[in-house]
Amino acid sequence: MRVLVFPLDMDKVIGFIKNANALNIEVVGASSVMNNGDGFQIHAFHKLPFVTDAGFEAIFCELISTYSITHVYTPHGAVWSYLSNLKKKHVEHLPFSLCEPSPYNSDWLDLQPSYKWAECLLADDIVEQIELPGKVNVHKKLTKGQYASLHRQFLSISGQCDELKLLALSHIFRVLPKGDLVEIGSFSGRSAFAIGWLASVYKIGNLVSVDPWDNSKLEDQGEGAEILNKELNKGSEVIDLNKIFWSYIGAISLLNNAGYIKDISEKAIDDYTKASSVGFLDSPELGRISLTGKIAMLHIDGNHRYDYVCKDIDAWEPFVMPGGWVLLDDYVWAFGDGPKKTGDELLLTEKFDVAFTMSDTLFLRKCQQKGEV
Ligand SMILES: C[S@@+](CC[C@H](N)C(=O)[O-])C[C@H]1O[C@@H](n2cnc3c(N)ncnc32)[C@H](O)[C@@H]1O
Repeated sequence: MRVLVFPLDMDKVIGFIKNANALNIEVVGASSVMNNGDGFQIHAFHKLPFVTDAGFEAIFCELISTYSITHVYTPHGAVWSYLSNLKKKHVEHLPFSLCEPSPYNSDWLDLQPSYKWAECLLADDIVEQIELPGKVNVHKKLTKGQYASLHRQFLSISGQCDELKLLALSHIFRVLPKGDLVEIGSFSGRSAFAIGWLASVYKIGNLVSVDPWDNSKLEDQGEGAEILNKELNKGSEVIDLNKIFWSYIGAISLLNNAGYIKDISEKAIDDYTKASSVGFLDSPELGRISLTGKIAMLHIDGNHRYDYVCKDIDAWEPFVMPGGWVLLDDYVWAFGDGPKKTGDELLLTEKFDVAFTMSDTLFLRKCQQKGEV
């Protein structure tokens, strides 16, 4: 199998070539504007005239036969139509497969899961159906386009939260009081992006991500989590958390309501209280955000060992305001039971008046004081 990628000068080819290389498929690149394939991991480069040039057809047919091309990938809609017609014209001489569907259709199909997800969300009136004690302002749903864009953007960021959790997040943002949003454990920023964006459209408040992004500062997560300990902790050759920090910055920087504290949660609480007492937090890469010191939503997704989850709760939960929410990620977890044990203990307290699980997460709403919105 040998694939011709043409034109090489389009951004979409980067992901395609990466996947082809991962599968050990030989790639020949061609372009009508570039003079070489420097910077691309390709087997060979070939300059082609524009498809509108009279000589294109003969040169292209020659290239297909010289390199024994079996498949052609093009992300260019007009080039695709041209090649599709050319193939029909020379059925015998051009025995390559052209990528299907066409680039226009492919883009359209890529969008469909996001629209489907948005339609499911819009059809679900769970917020209207749950009885929320106290006086609660219920914000209206967003538009289909907004939800679809959120879904698309969320999935483009690597991370462990899934679309079911995004669904639950999208629902509970409609009933959040105004306050700070705190996430312990942000990794590449998938859940942080969703929390920050929803907080900004509903004008809830500003997001603080708490994460050391430093392998040497991480403690192990218990015996059951050996695989994760090896991947994440000091000396790991699999995940470099410093690089992950820059993935986080890349995911979050278009939000203007996000900041971070680069430390483990038990130390970061002091920075948070200091920042909220002066009213703002400065993050070198994201600038200044204001803070209230009252947490509308606390998402706990850091170290999942029981003693660490307990420490997170002890340090941060007192700042969660009445009517605010605590989310314990990985309440259902294959590598240990820290979040489950902590969550079950919290359920036995009388601090929370609504509790449900969705995806792997336990969602808890802190009891509201009488008359509070
Ligand atoms: C499961 S990942 C978070 C996933 C993220 N919420 C997402 O949406 O994909 C866990 C993160 O917790 C961080 N972490 C581990 N121990 C921590 C601690 N004690 N305090 C704060 N963050 C911690 C790790 O650096 C890692 O980035």
